[in-house]
Amino acid sequence: MLDTTALNQQRNFFDGHADIWLFGYGSLIWKADFAYLERRPAYIQGWERRFWQGSHDHRGTLESPGRVATLIRAKDSICHGMAYRITPEVLAPLDIREKNGYLREKVLLTFLAENGEAAKQSEGLIYLASEDNPAFLGEAPLTEIAQQIANAHGPSGPNKEYLLNLATALRELGATDAHIFDLELQLSRI
Ligand code: SIN
Repeated sequence: MLDTTALNQQRNFFDGHADIWLFGYGSLIWKADFAYLERRPAYIQGWERRFWQGSHDHRGTLESPGRVATLIRAKDSICHGMAYRITPEVLAPLDIREKNGYLREKVLLTFLAENGEAAKQSEGLIYLASEDNPAFLGEAPLTEIAQQIANAHGPSGPNKEYLLNLATALRELGATDAHIFDLELQLSRI
């Protein structure tokens, strides 16, 4: 299986910074099992969430991979998520958690104020699984993606838990995401 841990340790976009903003758009929204100094709802522009990344280590197995979130470029779209201000040593365990194809990338985050309006911006990190990584599964009909999610289980638990927790977390953020909510509906029909 692929392991991007060593690659990510070379991707030090914020070298020398005492703290770093990390933007989570998938499980990092609802499973913050790392230390952070503060967290704030935020979005990134030019990206859309998709369940197009294979999971062989968390929500599936080598024989029966699950599907988890990654991002694709979409010029006029925004993707809502959660930004965490972390200290640099928190990246090492995150690199391990995200090792199956995700690479650190630098992005511009826009924080949301209490009233939901865009407030200030900052550069931050995402973990991105791009289409050239070996675990990338890509597009498929939503019914097929939902079926695969319904069937897959891995060391971190059932794949459907990942999707349902993400949909719930997005609703709590007041965010809409057609791909995620359509998949949730398809899953409920299985
Ligand atoms: C993220 O949540 O930002 C990355 C993908 C994942 O860990 O689910």
